[in-house]
Amino acid sequence: MSVLGLVRPDLRDFSGYASARKAAETGRVWLNANESPWPNSADAEGSSHRYPAPQPEALRQALAALYGTVPENLLVGRGSDEAIDLLVRALCRPGIDAVVVAPPVFGMYAVSARLQGAPLLEVPLVDGPQGFAPDLAAIGDAAEARGAHLVFLCSPGNPTGEAVALEDIAALASRLRDRAVVVVDEAYGEFSDVPSAATLHDAHPNLAVLRTLSKAHALAAARIGTLIAAPELIAVLRSCQAPYPLPTPCVALALAGLSPQAQEETRRRVECLRRERERLARALAELPGVRRVYPSQGNFLLARFEDAQAAFDRLLAAGVVVRDQRAAPQLADALRISVGAPEENDAVLVALAGMGSDA
Ligand SMILES: Cc1ncc(COP(=O)(O)O)c(C=O)c1O
Repeated sequence: MSVLGLVRPDLRDFSGYASARKAAETGRVWLNANESPWPNSADAEGSSHRYPAPQPEALRQALAALYGTVPENLLVGRGSDEAIDLLVRALCRPGIDAVVVAPPVFGMYAVSARLQGAPLLEVPLVDGPQGFAPDLAAIGDAAEARGAHLVFLCSPGNPTGEAVALEDIAALASRLRDRAVVVVDEAYGEFSDVPSAATLHDAHPNLAVLRTLSKAHALAAARIGTLIAAPELIAVLRSCQAPYPLPTPCVALALAGLSPQAQEETRRRVECLRRERERLARALAELPGVRRVYPSQGNFLLARFEDAQAAFDRLLAAGVVVRDQRAAPQLADALRISVGAPEENDAVLVALAGMGSDA
């Protein structure tokens, strides 16, 4: 069965909004979209009076090269958040087709499921001596038993930091072939030792991979996320997407940010952050009041504290804002600390030094 068999039956032949841009791509005098004939006087580029290409070819080519795939396998959208939402909307009938997640994990999978009215199946991560890990057998069991159409694996996991081995992802995708799309969210993939699951895509049509320019590429405000998936699934998601999801200035910034020089600088910074991650992890683990620092393949560390409130307050008093994880399952004593520039990480260590002596 093609992955189309997992799409909501009412959307399989849905063609979406017929935008002016879709209807005609060549011409000299553009009078088909009720645009202004003149650029805004503040528009230095002089191109934003026209609606943008829905999926700009130059950006698709650049992202395909970056992620080692072909443009036909890509959907580009407003951050990976948009792709998560589109996947849930297109694959899950409200009240029927479930979404499997492995908490504690990035919250948008559950938010999108809730908005769609899709049942949410939670299969907790297992906290072991090597750190957290998904229970892939239990995830497969839950997906089969409850007829899930989507399984989200976050690798590296946010906030827990672990990366899932490619052979384990491949085994789950094989097991759920014709049953569910397995989505591997690689928002932090650039920081990981584990290669991208996009390499598995040809052998596993029910596998999809999420990438973003928001993290390692330092373009969070441009909102450029990419889904790598089977072309027939991409076509369905495109028809569910807003007509013009990618603002022209954001596309220009993304293209400039993917130039060879910019990519070289990104690589240097990723190396710096990976070194800083290990330095910060070692130093944190030695501080009194720190119970455990989890190994991380991302650009953040998850740490447990004797008194997480005191740690949070000390950091805040020093002007350092970290992410409180105490409301998340299994993380009642934990904070997530993004790895910053060396001097920012020093600020964390200075703020937390002497924590054990808090009265
Ligand atoms: C695991 C994970 N996936 C996706 C996203 C969303 O990223 P984007 O900025 O591409 O929407 C985040 C953002 O924090 C994340 O942590």
